[in-house]
Amino acid sequence: MMIENKHTKYEILLKQGENLIDFELDNSTNICSLLSLLKYELDLFWVGIYVVDGDLLKLGLFQGMTACTKIGIGKGVCGRAAETGKVQIVKDVEKFPGYIACHSETKSEIVLPGIENGKVKFVLDVDSTKADNFDETDELYLSKFCELVIKLV
Ligand code: SME
Repeated sequence: MMIENKHTKYEILLKQGENLIDFELDNSTNICSLLSLLKYELDLFWVGIYVVDGDLLKLGLFQGMTACTKIGIGKGVCGRAAETGKVQIVKDVEKFPGYIACHSETKSEIVLPGIENGKVKFVLDVDSTKADNFDETDELYLSKFCELVIKLV
């Protein structure tokens, strides 16, 4: 995707995401709608959230194939994002020490922490079958999606 196009596409997606949220519906429906929007509009392999519960991340809502259900804080890409509170961009999953391979199809991945009152509440895990699929533009806009999700978790 060209840089300018990518920004424009995400700006439109973000507006669509904001418009999809309907507080007359269950929060889970709204989260599923946001995840579905990302997965199908960005042609992703898997998009989902893992929710922090003590020293574990537990699989929450997702769009895509069944996945690992529990991840220790500090383990894998998701655990690292939860532990550090920092976005993890993994351009080649084979090069990430301790990578947890839920699906062999995934070649690159971005994981963003959803932070409220200084605490990581969940992580948003976004997987692609393409190598090197994510950059700072994805980080910028997917962080904005995390801010939408945080009101619903
Ligand atoms: N690859 C992740 C695990 C979650 S699955 O990709 C859905 C990780 O290393 O934390």
